[in-house]
Amino acid sequence: MRIGVLGAGNMADALAAQWARKGHEVRIGSRAPEKAVALAARVGGGAEGGTLREAAGFGEAVLLAVTHEGVEDALRQAGPLAGRVLLDCTNPMEPPFERMKTEGGPSAARRIADLTLARVVKAFNTCPDTVWRMAPPEFGGRPLGVPLCGDDPDALAVARRLVADIGCVPMDGGGLARAGLLEATTAFLVGLWTAGEDPVAMLPPAAEVAGVEPRRTSDTAAR
Ligand SMILES: NC(=O)c1ccc[n+]([C@@H]2O[C@H](COP(=O)([O-])OP(=O)(O)OC[C@H]3O[C@@H](n4cnc5c(N)ncnc54)[C@H](OP(=O)(O)O)[C@@H]3O)[C@@H](O)[C@H]2O)c1
Repeated sequence: MRIGVLGAGNMADALAAQWARKGHEVRIGSRAPEKAVALAARVGGGAEGGTLREAAGFGEAVLLAVTHEGVEDALRQAGPLAGRVLLDCTNPMEPPFERMKTEGGPSAARRIADLTLARVVKAFNTCPDTVWRMAPPEFGGRPLGVPLCGDDPDALAVARRLVADIGCVPMDGGGLARAGLLEATTAFLVGLWTAGEDPVAMLPPAAEVAGVEPRRTSDTAAR
């Protein structure tokens, strides 16, 4: 698959490297194209670097991996994205994780969808880049679940494939209307992690809570 990556920071580095290793064609874009070129050289696997517009135009899927504050600027430089598959990993949060930067307004993902008219899927925002660099991100033999929120079935299928390609398990997080909950959940989790707590300890197995076996995650993990 051709994947465009908007941004040349930590998340771009982590995910571009994974996808390039998996044989995808990756083009990284930055407002400072020389940074994208340098990152592409580090990533290897034939990845290329250039402008945000070049990366946006290249991808069958496009990952938006810039800071929350840089989103509007980056999207302006990226050019038209209407109808395209846009994976949004941005997190509108900051220490001490008491409120969202989006408080009182739409979620970051919804705002990105409104700005671009792209088929946005919220994805890869739940863990730090160190986890996304793991090959595969697996803990105690259990592959990491990656919740996805989006409205377009084809865009979700693309996102699921790119999740599976890095050795993770896609989880159905519902429509884009739930992306704000996922963003806030992530902020809460990061607050716990930074306080030295282990959020895994607060989560009983789904069977104990809802009386159902966790279907999608375990099915995919078993393959
Ligand atoms: N790092 C993580 O652990 C992690 C995990 C999950 C989600 N996220 C989210 O993923 C996104 C990227 O995080 P990151 O850690 O990769 O950040 P980062 O290393 O700080 O990189 C941020 C990128 O955003 C670009 N940028 C900032 N302002 C811009 C603007 N006005 N126009 C164009 N580009 C701009 C930067 O460009 P320059 O290089 O030119 O400054 C850089 O390429 C953030 O929204 C973050 O919340 C991060």
